[in-house]
Amino acid sequence: MKEHKMTSRHDEIRQSYRELGELGNIYDGIITRSTNLGKVMDSLIWGLDRELSASWIDDALAPISADFSGKLLEVPVGTGVLTMPLYASLPKAGVTCLDYSADMMENAKKRAAAMKLSHVEFIQGDVGALPFEDESFDIVLSLNGFHAFPDKDAAFRETRRVLRKGGLFCGCFYIAGEFRRTDWFVKYMYVPKGFFTPPFETRESLEARLRSLYSEVDVHTVRAEGIFRCVK
Ligand SMILES: C[S@@+](CC[C@H](N)C(=O)[O-])C[C@H]1O[C@@H](n2cnc3c(N)ncnc32)[C@H](O)[C@@H]1O
Repeated sequence: MKEHKMTSRHDEIRQSYRELGELGNIYDGIITRSTNLGKVMDSLIWGLDRELSASWIDDALAPISADFSGKLLEVPVGTGVLTMPLYASLPKAGVTCLDYSADMMENAKKRAAAMKLSHVEFIQGDVGALPFEDESFDIVLSLNGFHAFPDKDAAFRETRRVLRKGGLFCGCFYIAGEFRRTDWFVKYMYVPKGFFTPPFETRESLEARLRSLYSEVDVHTVRAEGIFRCVK
């Protein structure tokens, strides 16, 4: 495995998500739109109503079949609020969850323990230097990660490396140029706070990048949320 140099950008991101991890319930309320703050932010920043908000997560998880029983890597898992319920419905799968922030992942671990998900394991690490052998997984799932990762090329390279031939790569993240209000908040709020890291993909650049690495590529957007699936 290649030596991976930790940059100050990595440290800044880790610090931002450390603080957010400590506020796990607030983050969960925002991402799931289950609190008043979440509803306001969803609507104001992302232009989403309840239906659209439900649709991006449904679409991102839809490629994972209900009877999946292989090996799945989720990176980054964050607080696990979006995926632990999914894993509860896939008891025959072997699930590995990875995140850079131990603080964010602590929430996911507690959630998995409360739900008795013994088939889900957690590893702290960097998506740019994944601690797995080549072709270790049948599915790599990535929700809301690529807009945060500091080294996008390394993240695309590593997620592909650990996926077996014929395996599925799917998920979602922020796409620039689709919804102006979101672009504004990303530029003036999420980037300065260290939650998002440019450069960002556009819909066209993401499609082109995935087509150069994968087959059966599908990309669509719900406002500024880009949802993708493809096969290695
Ligand atoms: C917006 S959260 C998304 C979490 C979760 N997938 C969700 O949708 O709620 C972004 C996550 O990316 C993680 N992250 C940022 N840089 C990373 C890296 N280089 N390697 C692994 N995880 C990273 C952060 O720690 C944070 O938990």
